[in-house]
Amino acid sequence: MTAGFDMTDLLRPGLPAGAAEWAGDPPFNFVGGHNDPASVPFGGFAEAAATALARHGPALAAYNLGGSPQGHLPLREFVAEALARRAQMPTDPSQVLITSGSLQALDLVNAALVAPGDPVVVEKCTYAGTLSRLAALGAEVHGVELDSDGMSIDHLDEVLESLSRHRRRPKFVYTIPTVQNPTGTVMPPTRRIELLETARRHGVAIFEDDCYADLTFDGERPPTIRSLDNGGGGVVYCGSFSKTLAPALRLGYVVADWPVMSRLLALKTDAGSGALEQITVAEYAAAHFDDHVEALTSALHNKCQAICGALRDSFGDLARFEAPRGGIFVWVALPDGVDTDRLVAPAAARGVEFNPGSAWCTDPNYGASRMRLCFGHLRPEAIAAGIAALADTVRESLTRPASRGV
Ligand SMILES: Cc1ncc(COP(=O)(O)O)c(C=O)c1O
Repeated sequence: MTAGFDMTDLLRPGLPAGAAEWAGDPPFNFVGGHNDPASVPFGGFAEAAATALARHGPALAAYNLGGSPQGHLPLREFVAEALARRAQMPTDPSQVLITSGSLQALDLVNAALVAPGDPVVVEKCTYAGTLSRLAALGAEVHGVELDSDGMSIDHLDEVLESLSRHRRRPKFVYTIPTVQNPTGTVMPPTRRIELLETARRHGVAIFEDDCYADLTFDGERPPTIRSLDNGGGGVVYCGSFSKTLAPALRLGYVVADWPVMSRLLALKTDAGSGALEQITVAEYAAAHFDDHVEALTSALHNKCQAICGALRDSFGDLARFEAPRGGIFVWVALPDGVDTDRLVAPAAARGVEFNPGSAWCTDPNYGASRMRLCFGHLRPEAIAAGIAALADTVRESLTRPASRGV
């Protein structure tokens, strides 16, 4: 064995910076899309896994359990049935592709459609994982204004009009209509129809990312945009079991028609998503999904009330936010001049981690005074203590001249 061989000499140019070593979980973890630990139905998973293994064990000998590369049929049947029942979207299992989390769904749809320089339209504040992927692909990203009902249709029309004047046809409008990430709004059905009509008038497709749609606090789930598009050909849809069951399962799905589905399948070269997860979730979800989601949503609603109360108590007038309509995060605006990127280190010193807003906005300057706080993971008492520590961090930064623009 050669001592001291330095493989880093061989790294190709243009690689992203190396990842930081994991430094452990902070006491007050408001980052990422973690779920409520007390709500994970692991007992139900254990029973479902035993039944599923008894039924499908020998099939593990083959990639894709010897079945379709689109994923375990009973799981695709569950997804199709649940979308028809819960989201008014009649779906055939042949339109469903099971993915390794919906992040893989984003990667596949992007890989099929987005080339460097292609315009893509997104909500002005949107999922950081989408923005970073589009940036890595060299897409030209255009942000659309948001209000308390989601994407502004007037502004969308303006953006599409202006692109069309420059003979630029966006690859798609990416939207998170139900529990928008990070703003937590729910787009009403009428606006969904207007969005479809506007996109269609400009000849633009829609990519609908719906991973929080089962988690609305009032239990109302509007019809999906895809369901409103007669025939569905203009909308690719994705969802996930991360938010409804558990993110560590890594199970998501895409719903698309065959012309797109056949391309996504050709791009999914990982020999299938985890089979144990698929057979377990198919078994579990068929019997328990609705009851589980109702209980989870109620637990998340309590946590949401805890964080909103804690923000009001600890931040007072310093924080502006609208209570989210569901899901696991709240989007908070701090006074102009606060730069939340610069609060990361002092907050970490107090044991608090949060998502600074710049990575969640097409205009990082707009996001700079904002932050996303996930409340799904911590117990309510820890939420209150963490928010108090974060408020101390912000107040301290306001007394320091180093803050942006202060
Ligand atoms: C809007 C949105 N899409 C996709 C994902 C990816 O989730 P997963 O890969 O766990 O399904 C997330 C995760 O937080 C998200 O918020």
